[in-house]
Amino acid sequence: MKDKIKVAILGLGTVGTGVYKIIQNQKNEFPNKIGAELEVSKILVRNAKKSREGVDMSLVTDKWEDVVNDGDIDIVIEVMGGIEPAKTYISEALCHGKHVVTANKDLMAEHGHELLETASEHKCDLLFEAAVAGGIPIIRPMKQCLAANNITEIMGIINGTTNFILTKMTEDGMEFDEALKLATDLGYAEADPTADIEGLDAGRKIAILASIAFNSRVTFSDVYTEGISKITAKDIKYASELGCVIKLIATAKNTESGIEVRVTPMFIPKSHPLASVNDSFNAVFVHGDALDDAMFYGRGAGELPTASAIMGDVIDVCRNTAFGCNGRIGCTCYKDIPVKAMEDIESKYFVRTLLEDKPGTLAAVASTFSGNNASIDQMVQKTKFPGYAEVVFIIDTVKEQLFHRAIMELSAMHYVKEIPSIIRVHNDIRN
Ligand code: NAP
Ligand code: HSE
Repeated sequence: MKDKIKVAILGLGTVGTGVYKIIQNQKNEFPNKIGAELEVSKILVRNAKKSREGVDMSLVTDKWEDVVNDGDIDIVIEVMGGIEPAKTYISEALCHGKHVVTANKDLMAEHGHELLETASEHKCDLLFEAAVAGGIPIIRPMKQCLAANNITEIMGIINGTTNFILTKMTEDGMEFDEALKLATDLGYAEADPTADIEGLDAGRKIAILASIAFNSRVTFSDVYTEGISKITAKDIKYASELGCVIKLIATAKNTESGIEVRVTPMFIPKSHPLASVNDSFNAVFVHGDALDDAMFYGRGAGELPTASAIMGDVIDVCRNTAFGCNGRIGCTCYKDIPVKAMEDIESKYFVRTLLEDKPGTLAAVASTFSGNNASIDQMVQKTKFPGYAEVVFIIDTVKEQLFHRAIMELSAMHYVKEIPSIIRVHNDIRN
């Protein structure tokens, strides 16, 4: 057993800075927690000349070779983000016998399988708790504590930026752009916030969670994603009048006909536990056959919450090292379950329309829905303009394919001026 474990941090942005801070703050605790001191021996950044407050600049380098060729480095903490060069660096670190801890969901959702195989070949740990839901423990609980369950469903809010934006729009009447700027300033958003806003970040996270939950590989390309950029203040108001809030919801279900996995904005009843998950908080529901329901809740993004998850993994690596059992838990995907096409999944919908104010309009619209097996659950007409009216429908559970055919037919009808919003609705919405 070494008396000092040396780590390298790749990236010193929001998360890397949090990791550096926790390592300094916990300095005196490590000998008790891991039986050794923990020391940062290199920090890799893109721009080594940039001054970084509170950081020992003698550790900073912009050369990967300084890290990978340093035989004293035991653990590489990758918090740079993106696919390349992160993928190459992680792979090379593992091939050099270094354990890796990463927060990189983009990479794990696409290339997790091959990187976990490389880790296994070299008897190394590759841990990624921070890649999903920031500071909330969810990967380790699913891989370990819930390992005796058949997990059949996961549903959650797993993007802090969009949850923060929707909360500010709902509670403070803030404009979308203003709320996004605030989320970016607070360090929640990705380097390119499109990944957050368009649901891609949540799509990557649900791919990782589904793979672990169902023991079958689900990649990001299997996930249907829709973001929140088209949600308007008007939709939020309608949701409220219907007793709901709008949230960006990621779901994965293991059904008899395959895995259903998607990220979409959704009307959630105000009574649902996810409705009160606000700001940058995340929450994940898990249903297992033995466990029944469990909910994991906490900070899903930000400097210290994310660094907390990273450092939990680092401590786990150190403990594995102390007992010579690194690589103990690798890839858990031992099944090959098909992923269902989105058009075969069933949903309930909110549809906001602008319709011609003429006799026969509603009959024609209703007949188009019913002709496609889509049943109208609720209808509200509140606003009239000269010649047309705003009418919203709640459409009962129907296959996506049939619903979209109805929308295409409606869009081609002269009765229908516009369909500004289509948002999925949670099954539990009350009439
Ligand atoms: P960030 O603030 O943009 O920081 C990125 C850091 O990586 C910067 O220090 C940058 O160097 C460095 N870097 C980027 N490309 C590099 C390269 N090619 N070579 C060397 N260094 C490079 O990012 P972040 O928000 O900390 O996120 C880091 C990772 O954590 C991402 O995978 C992200 O998805 C994940 N994550 C973030 C959060 C969050 O709340 N922010 C939460 C969970 C997971 P310079 O400083 O020189 O530019
Ligand atoms: N951009 C991500 C979010 C960071 O907003 O949730 C955490 O992965």
